[in-house]
Amino acid sequence: MMRIAWVFALVFIVFSVCYTAYADSGPSVETGKKLFYGTFLGTNGKSCGSCHKTTENIKKDTAKYPEDPALKNVINGCITENLKGKPLPGDSAEMNSLIMYMRSVK
Ligand code: HEC
Repeated sequence: MMRIAWVFALVFIVFSVCYTAYADSGPSVETGKKLFYGTFLGTNGKSCGSCHKTTENIKKDTAKYPEDPALKNVINGCITENLKGKPLPGDSAEMNSLIMYMRSVK
C-alpha cells in the first residue's frame, strides 16, 4: 500500500515540474531571436534574417512601428508574403517573442 502512495507522489512531482517548466515558457528575446533566424515560420526555407540582414536594418524597421499592433501586422505580412507561412496570432508567444527580440536589437 505504501508503495502505491510513493508512485502517486512521484507522478505528482514529475507532473508539477513539467507543468512549471511549461508555464514558464512565455515570450522571450531568446525565443524571438531563434524565430527570426530560423526557417520554421515559413515554408520556403527562408528566415526573417535572410532579408533583414543587419542589426542596423532591424533596428530601423522596428523603429518605424512604435505601436505593437502595427508592427504585428507588417510581421505577419512578411510571414505570409515572404516566407510563405501562416500568420501568427497577435497574442501568441511566438509573435510577442519576435517583437521582444526586434525591439531589443541595439
Ligand atoms: C524575402 C525577403 C523578406 C523576408 C523573408 C522577410 N521580410 Fe520583412 N520585409 C521585406 C521587405 C522587402 C520589406 C519592405 C521594406 C520596405 O518597404 O522598406 C519588409 C518589411 C518588413 C518590416 C517593416 C519595415 C518597413 O520598412 O516598413 C518589418 C518589421 C519586417 N519586414 C519584419 C520581418 C520579419 C519579422 C520577418 C520574418 C518573420 C520578415 N520581415 C521576413 C522582406 C522580407
